[in-house]
Amino acid sequence: MNKRIGILTGGGDCPGLNAVIRAVVWRATQYQDKVIGIKNGWAGLLNCETMPLDRKSVGGILYRGGTILGTSRTNIFKDSSTANLAMKNIKKMGLDVVIAVGGEDTLGAAYKLSQKNFPVVGVPKTIDNDLAGTDFTFGFDTAVSIATEAVDRIHTTAESHNRVLVVEVMGRHAGWIATYSGLAGGADIILVPEYPFTVEEVCNAVRRRHDAGKFFSIVVIAEGAQMVTKKGKEVVLSSKAKDEFGHVRLGGIGAVLAEKIEDETGYETRVTVLGHIQRGGTPTAHDRVLATRYGVEAMDCVKDGDFGKMVALNGTKIARVSLKSIAKKIKTIDRDFYELTKVFQY
Ligand code: F6P
Repeated sequence: MNKRIGILTGGGDCPGLNAVIRAVVWRATQYQDKVIGIKNGWAGLLNCETMPLDRKSVGGILYRGGTILGTSRTNIFKDSSTANLAMKNIKKMGLDVVIAVGGEDTLGAAYKLSQKNFPVVGVPKTIDNDLAGTDFTFGFDTAVSIATEAVDRIHTTAESHNRVLVVEVMGRHAGWIATYSGLAGGADIILVPEYPFTVEEVCNAVRRRHDAGKFFSIVVIAEGAQMVTKKGKEVVLSSKAKDEFGHVRLGGIGAVLAEKIEDETGYETRVTVLGHIQRGGTPTAHDRVLATRYGVEAMDCVKDGDFGKMVALNGTKIARVSLKSIAKKIKTIDRDFYELTKVFQY
């Protein structure tokens, strides 16, 4: 009764974050608990930047993309001084619980906080859908819808010009967006981080289509796809700078591949990089509902005193898994599912 609950959104933004915030606030109000918005992810704990949240302030945000709290890739466990400051500020703010909405990094920090015996609940968020412990993260469905529409549009222009069109989508460690949007959009070749590719096999697939009288091809490639060369497996980076969780910035594999396809086959090739378009804008109905269910369940964890948990989707049911069980794990595309994409290659 009358708990003070801090909620933060961390990592890359994602459609549906506001739906989670709204659901947490509504459920907390039912339980007569108070919700405090921590601004800009974990950074808000270091700077004591907060905003009060109530039913009024979360009005009209259900369908809005992004996050009204702001987000960052700040890591409170970067070193002992930031960790101590965060713990000190949690006390200063009088927080009883923190609900952390985020991906592997944000929830990794949440797990470390729970190891310090502070009550934490995690909510899984990422357009990449690569979080372990849950069948789906919210944001993924929206990203897939956007990428599928892009592939559909690419299709007509590729066909008109007899071109190879390479579409680069997000997906750092896993090819969920590439596989779903590629299958939904009828892509001819789908390349994902889990299964490295060679330029030769891609070119051969394109040539087979050409020989069969299909003079255009669509290749959907995840940004983290690995190209096998004489030097080994290569990923393409857009920047070597690392964020506070040690991640480099990926991007550019589509352009590298497009150039090689054109050089090897002689077929005119272009690249389209979807980038942050996949993360922006209004969430789909599916993501709004999933995010709402997660937000309500997160507050129910608080009510039950069930901490150190992440809310999850197990089939069609909402579940709870321990933050420990998902720490440092990634959910990847299994081989059988990936092989399905090859059924549609000549
Ligand atoms: O983690 C989600 C994600 O969209 C990845 O697919 C991508 O590599 C990364 O975020 C991009 O992050 P940023 O917004 O920092 O460029």
